Amino acid sequence: QELQMNLEEIEKGGFEHFMLKEIYEQPKSIRDTMRGRLLVEEGVIKMAGIWDHQERFLNAKRIIIVACGTSYHAGLVAEYLIEDLARIPVEVEYASEFRYRNPIINKRDVVIAISQSGETADTLAALKLAKEKGAFIYGINNVVGSSIARITDAGSYTHAGPEIGVASTKAFTAQLTILSLIAIKLGKHNGNLSTERFNALISELDSIPELVQETLETTAEQVIEVAEKYKDAPNALYLGRGYNFPSALEGALKLKEISYIHAEGYPAAEMKHGPIALIDENMPVVIIATKTGHYEKVVSNAQEIKARKGQIIAVVNKGDQEVRKIADHVIEIPNSSEEFSPILAAIPLQLLSYYVAVKLGRNVDQPRNLAKSVTVE
Ligand code: G6P
Repeated sequence: QELQMNLEEIEKGGFEHFMLKEIYEQPKSIRDTMRGRLLVEEGVIKMAGIWDHQERFLNAKRIIIVACGTSYHAGLVAEYLIEDLARIPVEVEYASEFRYRNPIINKRDVVIAISQSGETADTLAALKLAKEKGAFIYGINNVVGSSIARITDAGSYTHAGPEIGVASTKAFTAQLTILSLIAIKLGKHNGNLSTERFNALISELDSIPELVQETLETTAEQVIEVAEKYKDAPNALYLGRGYNFPSALEGALKLKEISYIHAEGYPAAEMKHGPIALIDENMPVVIIATKTGHYEKVVSNAQEIKARKGQIIAVVNKGDQEVRKIADHVIEIPNSSEEFSPILAAIPLQLLSYYVAVKLGRNVDQPRNLAKSVTVE
């Protein structure tokens, strides 16, 4: 028993929980995901899974992404990335819905399954269905040799290392990293990205691990303060637009999973079609308002919340002036292109859910009713 305890302490590497350790590992895990693939000097993205099947990707009529939970949110970001950078139509579906709705799949479709464990029953079944219908099936998994990895035609591992905390953190940012690499690579090969733009994107992506490190260092304190203030709130709303609409969904999921506080993520502009009715002086609203991408629109959404006395916690870029005037709290993340902002925005949102859960005395690494990998329907 004692030996067991000691082993666990060692595995946690001095952190109180696996989740916190995994959050802090992200500069390294993202670097590991890019290792050997992102060759900035040579101006190349090397990914055998894509390169060996580039005909399938470049001739794809569309890409369908199937996933569950946090992996589904990574898929939603991929829709923005791939459509923006490679101009290939993308659909993102919950694997559980896709598999049971008699989907239209044809041979020129590429179906990508995103799964940390590679064992999620619904994702596996969705992929089998797509395979039967003749689609090219591709896996983005973290666990090497997993069931999904074994049945796919090709794939890319995220190489984030083992993720123990039930709430996914470093696997998510590794998925975003892989999906960025794929989108940029496809965009280059199908002629949508000029060499100049390609080079700018890859050199920025290469700097993301340092920016994640900086984000960890600069946001933790602000986040802890916010966690203390709002830990007893019964509800929270998360809003974002564009690339950061999925960030809002993921931020809300993290809070729900480990603190058991009811939270909803919404596209900021949809707020007026319902959630705005919930806003009063007791409602914390986390709003992602990065400078790139629909900034002015998000500012006006923030004004609408303030007019109804909602409590605004804004994730903004460094040096932001406008949102600061409206928000109750600002959490500053480094500047980046819109494409990579979901990676940076994920960090304070992970930390926020973590600290709220810790302050409430929750079992952070093993939240009630949840499993790390859902291998049954
Ligand atoms: C479970 C886990 C989540 C995860 C989801 C999908 O619900 O608790 O953290 O996002 O399954 O898992 P996968 O392994 O397919 O990414």
